[in-house]
Amino acid sequence: MTLLEDAARARINAYAPYSGFKVGAALRGEAGGVHVGVNVENAAYPEGTCAEAGAIAAMIAAGETRIKELAVIADSPEPVAPCGGCRQKIAEFAAPDMRVTMATTSGRTATVTVADLLPGAFSSAAMEPR
Ligand code: THU
Repeated sequence: MTLLEDAARARINAYAPYSGFKVGAALRGEAGGVHVGVNVENAAYPEGTCAEAGAIAAMIAAGETRIKELAVIADSPEPVAPCGGCRQKIAEFAAPDMRVTMATTSGRTATVTVADLLPGAFSSAAMEPR
């Protein structure tokens, strides 16, 4: 099964009763594990979490710390772009040239890099003492 298929399969279980916009994400860690996540909304709307954040949390819980590849899928006219907060979360655990595949359930895909999504990402290097 491809990473995109893993994301699509997880997406079925997304909990998005408020937006109606179900998103699935799947990532492969550097050790080879596949970790999936879905968006989980909440009656207190800002408490919702994105699919990408869920996949990253699953990766960390499984003991992996680096993302090698990531795919995200939704039923949208254009391949779904990770939100700003998720771009920062992805950049924490991935190389700038890592590929992110964005897809629609109708079969459209677009592949970009982490640096395309978030050029000049804030990183812990900025906090090193001078
Ligand atoms: N959402 C994601 O889970 N990932 C994205 O990349 C874009 C947006 C979710 C958040 C919210 O539950 C719903 O989609 C609408 O914004």
